[in-house]
Amino acid sequence: AAAAAAAAEENIDRDNAHSAACNGLEIKEIPGSYGIPFISPIMDRLEYFYFKGQDNFFKTRIERYGSTVFRTNMPPGPFMASNPRVIAVLDAKSFPVLFDSSRIEKKDVLYGTYLPSTKLTGNYRICANLDPSEPNHAKIKQFLLNLLSSRKDQIIPAFRTSFVAPLFAKLESQITSNGQSDFNKLNDKFALEFLGDAYFGSSPSKTGLDLQSNATKWLFLQLAPLISKLIPFCFLEDLLLHTFPYPPFLVKSDYNALYSYFRSVGGGAVDNLATQAGLSREEAIHNLLYATIFNAYGGFKVLLPTILKWLAFSSSNTDLHARIAAEARSAVGGENGQLTITALEKMDLIRSVVYEALRIDPPVQFQYGHAKKDFILESHDAAFQVRKGEMIFGYQPFATTDSRVFGSDAREFVPDRFVGDNGRLLKYVWWSNGPETEDPTVGNKQCAGKDFVVLVARLFVAELFLRYDSFTAVVGKFLLGAQVTFTSVNKAKTKIA
Ligand code: HEM
Repeated sequence: AAAAAAAAEENIDRDNAHSAACNGLEIKEIPGSYGIPFISPIMDRLEYFYFKGQDNFFKTRIERYGSTVFRTNMPPGPFMASNPRVIAVLDAKSFPVLFDSSRIEKKDVLYGTYLPSTKLTGNYRICANLDPSEPNHAKIKQFLLNLLSSRKDQIIPAFRTSFVAPLFAKLESQITSNGQSDFNKLNDKFALEFLGDAYFGSSPSKTGLDLQSNATKWLFLQLAPLISKLIPFCFLEDLLLHTFPYPPFLVKSDYNALYSYFRSVGGGAVDNLATQAGLSREEAIHNLLYATIFNAYGGFKVLLPTILKWLAFSSSNTDLHARIAAEARSAVGGENGQLTITALEKMDLIRSVVYEALRIDPPVQFQYGHAKKDFILESHDAAFQVRKGEMIFGYQPFATTDSRVFGSDAREFVPDRFVGDNGRLLKYVWWSNGPETEDPTVGNKQCAGKDFVVLVARLFVAELFLRYDSFTAVVGKFLLGAQVTFTSVNKAKTKIA
């Protein structure tokens, strides 16, 4: 049987090679090298975070090797990650190999080449770190998909009550008294409230808790190896953030506070849905916590400021704000003044703006996986032999701004890019770790919250422009995303049509 399997695999390889040859692509050595062990990964890390910066790190290598597929070390490297060696895939043709679960194993690769201790997640390996071939992956993912689907009617009301109303009230009062308002701070506060309300009908503040600092500390400990420019002394910062993992006990009490909240508010969901899926109560609660705080809260911390960033930039040279406001108000007017799903479906421009932000600035920029077997990897220009066990790394902001797919304005924010597009280009939008035209299932690794995220992002833009004709904001960079500080909002002058 083993010999037959090996022969079959060999055939597949030959087929792969044959198909590459048929596509007219030459099979080449993958360019690039890993350099001197230990020293080169540290030099690469410094180059990536401080001397060149993220985009230039990849750009210079593409130019040096004349290829969008090459070998490189990825940070953090020593002593955080034992093996920093990856094959980078940076174009729209090679990148999707990462979605192919027959060729790529996604076991313990959520963070890339390093893996935070499972002590940070109740001694469980959470869903996002499981390969679909592991039986628990299907159980946990089904549980989360069922939970989201059971709460679908609560999302719009929860977003209004726990996010939109308090956030915009605070934003306006801060602008009136201080001339500005830090959106990220308000988002960090109310996104957590909203998620608790949307998933469990009980936000942290309703149970007398403020979990924001617990959540932030716990996230920081896991993401520190990816963060830079917190302090001006780069060598010191490199030592503090990228060299040794922080011990989990530093956030033990924070995690326990989060866990108690999820145990108390998530009990109903766990009893009904997790047991149906065959999950233990404890494993379900740890996964609920992770999906809500790491996946969802961590995601919205980055996504909403990113959308605002592009809206703020676009406001200076286009009439985009006016067009969005007109669209939102006319659609809501047709629904008796209510922002419903039907109204939202009529907002084509808003839908396109959200997809364009997700395309040009995907909130999770890195995807990783190990080759399950030898195979031939194709870029636009060449084909390469990948060996079983090698790590593939995709830098998504390059792959989804590939001019061979999106044209000469691929690196520009084009608000209308996806208007009326139900598939032609949307299939190249990959923020959810899969094409936007496909759905998350227990058999793939696409984000379980895909539809929820897009819905909330569209609601956010619609709510913003139902209230305001336009806004101005100062935009900077903050940790893994944008920092947005509102400086003015112009309240809506026209009534809903
Ligand atoms: C996986 C992004 C919100 C649950 C993922 C992945 C990405 C992603 C890129 C794939 C990671 C990888 O394997 O490389 C985001 C972003 C979000 C968001 C940007 C918000 C803006 C959510 C929400 C949920 C969720 C609201 C709620 C349930 C998950 C789960 C996985 C996942 C369970 C693992 C899927 C699997 O193992 O098959 N997400 N996500 N995410 N996400 Fe999200």
